[in-house]
Amino acid sequence: MRVPFLDLNAHHQPLRAELLAAIQEVIDCGAFAGGPFVAKFEEEFAAFCQTRYAVGVGSGTEALWLVLLAFGIGPGDEVITVPSTFMATAEAISFAGAKPVFVDIDERTYTLDPELLERAITPRTKAIIPVHLFGQIADMDPILEIARRHQLRVIEDACQAHGAEYKGRKAGSIGNAGCFSFYPGKNLGAFGEAGAVTTDDKALCERIQTLRDHGQAKKYYHSDIGWNARMDGIQAAVLRVKLKGLERGNAARRDHAREYGELLGSREDLITPPEAAGSKHVYHVYAVRVQGRDQLLRALADRGIGCGIHYPIPVHLQQAYRGLNLGRGSFPVAERCAEEFLSLPMFPELTADQIETVARELTSLLSRAELSNARAH
Ligand SMILES: Cc1ncc(COP(=O)(O)O)c(C=O)c1O
Repeated sequence: MRVPFLDLNAHHQPLRAELLAAIQEVIDCGAFAGGPFVAKFEEEFAAFCQTRYAVGVGSGTEALWLVLLAFGIGPGDEVITVPSTFMATAEAISFAGAKPVFVDIDERTYTLDPELLERAITPRTKAIIPVHLFGQIADMDPILEIARRHQLRVIEDACQAHGAEYKGRKAGSIGNAGCFSFYPGKNLGAFGEAGAVTTDDKALCERIQTLRDHGQAKKYYHSDIGWNARMDGIQAAVLRVKLKGLERGNAARRDHAREYGELLGSREDLITPPEAAGSKHVYHVYAVRVQGRDQLLRALADRGIGCGIHYPIPVHLQQAYRGLNLGRGSFPVAERCAEEFLSLPMFPELTADQIETVARELTSLLSRAELSNARAH
């Protein structure tokens, strides 16, 4: 049995008629760039995230960048984040003109380690961007407390955490702002690029609404130098249809994670993803940790199992950031995890048979590796 890493077709097939009708409506109205479908989606997504406002933008990267710009963060400023993330988190900081400063992750959650946070703060620090990696919210209470003491903004990178919860609070509703990506493979994915900022801060909402639309609050009256970062009407229409199934999809992902846990959790040569107490993980990515990850990935691919690596190189070791002079050993937990993370197939429509197949093939490969290790000793 082949098991794909992700099967978007399986997700879209049952929604096909509804999705096509939603797209048709946008075509008939001609509301392609921003407009009423985006406004409707913003209302519904804000309600979902338990925030007062949501602002639709072109991507998750733009969401992060625009929040930094809206807070007036730029050259001479420092923004703290983690090296275990997709490049976009740091990229947005750099594109705003500020300097990314990294703090290692906590091995128990793979998110920003609050114990290491305070020593990274300098007089130049303006904001902290915790990343809710793989769908689990960072330990926000101590982060918010440190931020409050140092008067820093907290911007949640919730690009992988639609619907995740921390002590009953939804991702995107905990910091000053939340940034979401609707890249097609996300738990809530569009039919192309899209993103959103969530916030309870009216002034921030209005600022981003202006910045995403060439700095104009009124057509052709430009109060600021902004950008074109509007969300497409078609993306908003698609997202409105898919938002209705997000909770169901997340619940299915959680069931699959439990099934993987039952099949793999007792092995000593593999670490299944931890879920912190009080946290509702939404498993955008189901990453286990194993030794010999690269060989395993190849062997699983040979057996028809699609896996991924998120991410092979932590951001501080990316060539693009060589100028920061942060060598190997700077962030040991992030570096170790980057060598060991292996993302197994995870999507709502995954079947019990597929999960069993993945677990069986992985177990058999690990047992073989164990045998050949024993022989070599
Ligand atoms: C953690 C994280 N931050 C930011 C982004 C950027 O989002 P987008 O691809 O929509 O620009 C992503 C998306 O992959 C992400 O996973």
